[in-house]
Amino acid sequence: MLSAEQNDLITRTGPGTPAGDLMRRYWQPAALVDELSGNRPVKPVRLFGEDLVIFKDEQGRYGLIGRRCPHRGTDLAYGRLEGGGLRCAFHGWLFDVHGKCLETPAEPDDSNLCANIRQKSYPVVEKSGILFAYLGPGEPPAFPHFDCFVAPASYTFAFKGMIDCNWLQSLEVGIDPVHTSFLHRFFHDEDPSQAYGKLFRDTSRDSDMPMSRIMREFTRPRIEVEPTEFGFRLVTLRQISEASTHVRVTNLMFPNAFIIPMSREMTITQWHVPIDDEKHYWYAIFTSFGTPVDKDEMRRQRLALYQLPDYIPNKNKSNDYGFDPHEQEHETYTGMGADINVHDQWACESMGTIQDRTSEHLGTSDKAISAYRKLLRQAIEQAGKGEKPIMVLDGARAARITGPAAVDGIGPADDWQGYWQKSEASKRRAASWTNGH
Ligand code: FES
Ligand SMILES: [Fe+2]
Repeated sequence: MLSAEQNDLITRTGPGTPAGDLMRRYWQPAALVDELSGNRPVKPVRLFGEDLVIFKDEQGRYGLIGRRCPHRGTDLAYGRLEGGGLRCAFHGWLFDVHGKCLETPAEPDDSNLCANIRQKSYPVVEKSGILFAYLGPGEPPAFPHFDCFVAPASYTFAFKGMIDCNWLQSLEVGIDPVHTSFLHRFFHDEDPSQAYGKLFRDTSRDSDMPMSRIMREFTRPRIEVEPTEFGFRLVTLRQISEASTHVRVTNLMFPNAFIIPMSREMTITQWHVPIDDEKHYWYAIFTSFGTPVDKDEMRRQRLALYQLPDYIPNKNKSNDYGFDPHEQEHETYTGMGADINVHDQWACESMGTIQDRTSEHLGTSDKAISAYRKLLRQAIEQAGKGEKPIMVLDGARAARITGPAAVDGIGPADDWQGYWQKSEASKRRAASWTNGH
């Protein structure tokens, strides 16, 4: 249970808030590359409570600048992409990707008004289908050499979706290894050959047991939280029999992402990024250690479930997430269909816009959530004192942060540590792009 002040401290991320200042010290997903791939690559973006516009100029450079024109305050998201930047539709002022004013065409020829104008701008880089922005002070940190960032483009796919509540609720669901046994329970197992690109529908490694059956039948796992250089590793153990244990290794990448196994050959790296304190996007990079990803198929599967341009899920609060009592009795735990993102969405949103943590009661099985809040408070404190918090990396340090291990498999009960390490190593050896490491 937290006090109202403690809850505000870890949930509020607007400009000038302690958690907001901390989270601005890291690269954060701002848009999908897909969103800027059309004929007019300009899109309004709201990020950490700031209204911005992201665009790609004629040279293919990405820019993220303040949305309001510094002349008279109109909306640059309606601007014209021309002349080496984005031009305001009101009086033609032109801004480049760095927010530099290039032209004020209604001003006298000898005016130097332009030289004194600077629009707010943030650096943007593209990584594995996501445009990451840095909203913090000084030099941005280096990206860790995690699989999702170093895998070749043909082995990754990125997508996003809007969630109608505070970001922390979703992050805390993502590092909760127990809810899968309940919230995502399927009463029947699917043919794994039909499971491509779906979570918890494949068989677990080194067994023919579907993940869905393991989750359904073994509901009281033991959870180990192991601190790492990037946050922590979660090892979740479900004892299947005297001889064998199901081991699931997942990770918290500080500050607002987690990395989990999705199927035998794919992992998901997922961020929860505030639009503001009351809404956020999940962004995910799917990384394959097997064959190259079928991007068209993955995109097609997911686009059928979302409404563009804002990536709002078809099943949402306004239609009771498709809740069907008959289905809840016979098919799924929630009665909300087979898409686990819908289950998570319901769990997160139904806690309220910003969960009131003054009335919650955490149990033993919530230990990862407690560990995360502690880490977050520590980092907020360090950043507040001007120290470098965890994961604000220089190049040399970033190059040493690789992996991480993400395993779902069944191994010997008396050597589950050795088992997951060997499984991870063999997954890496099998992947053509890892060079065996
Ligand atoms: S308001 Fe943008 S150019 Fe005048
Ligand atoms: Fe979930």
